[in-house]
Amino acid sequence: MYNPFSLSGKTILVTGASSGIGRETALACSRMGARVVATARDQGRLAETMSLLPPVADGESHVMALADLTQPQDVDSLLKSLPPLDGAVLCAGNSMTLPLQFGSREKFNEMFDINFFAPVELMRLMYKKKVLQKGASVVLIASIGGTHSFMPGNGVYGASKAALNSVMKYAAREYASRKVRVNSICPGMVDTPLIHRGTITEEQLAEDAKRYPLGRYGQPADIANGAIYLLSDASSWLTGHDLVIDGGFSI
Ligand SMILES: NC(=O)c1ccc[n+]([C@@H]2O[C@H](COP(=O)([O-])OP(=O)(O)OC[C@H]3O[C@@H](n4cnc5c(N)ncnc54)[C@H](OP(=O)(O)O)[C@@H]3O)[C@@H](O)[C@H]2O)c1
Repeated sequence: MYNPFSLSGKTILVTGASSGIGRETALACSRMGARVVATARDQGRLAETMSLLPPVADGESHVMALADLTQPQDVDSLLKSLPPLDGAVLCAGNSMTLPLQFGSREKFNEMFDINFFAPVELMRLMYKKKVLQKGASVVLIASIGGTHSFMPGNGVYGASKAALNSVMKYAAREYASRKVRVNSICPGMVDTPLIHRGTITEEQLAEDAKRYPLGRYGQPADIANGAIYLLSDASSWLTGHDLVIDGGFSI
């Protein structure tokens, strides 16, 4: 059956696969026929993701790999264990609500370590070591926090995502010589454990959701579906693009 969004026969790495957007993306990729390499730090939650994935059709198995992407030795081991990839969705990340006046160089380092250096270093090494096969597609999960002051006190977070989006465009241009595509997704607020950590109260979240023209925050599947498009052959002429998925917030 004709389906330009199929990921059948592709092997896709998903970071941050133990929770939220990454878990849903791993699930969506496997439902679209891909073999998934899922990575995160928490063994129990990552194993739970693995248990949700439908089996790969051609008899191959999905792969679970534990790694702290801020630790060079973990990144090194992960790279050595990776099969050749047709795609990667780099979701692992964190948030930080901290007014700039209370920020510090350490806080910027902490945020940039996981949101900027971890995905950029992994992408750089996967390309250099040719883990990313010719024609592969990389999807970086950025944020509208990188383009808009979407939520008070998110300057440190926003800066890390803006930097990620900038590198995305340079990588897209450089990697095009090997037909490797690089795009990002900029989600608005998405209902995952990340936004329920107490730094923003549930009342504030409910009030904030009313600012979204489509009347709600996103669900992880809203972002995973965008990633499917960017990974699939349906987007084969798209590179260097930041796909905003935000229920109309940034209009
Ligand atoms: N939710 C939103 O509103 C929203 C909006 C825009 C952008 N985003 C971005 O979307 C991405 C996913 O967020 P989410 O909402 O799905 O958050 P989440 O549910 O908290 O998931 C974050 C994931 O990142 C992994 N992770 C964190 N630190 C890591 C590290 N040092 N090494 C390896 N993995 C690490 C976590 O796994 P372990 O703890 O198991 O390591 C977890 O799987 C993030 O980059 C976030 O900034 C989220």
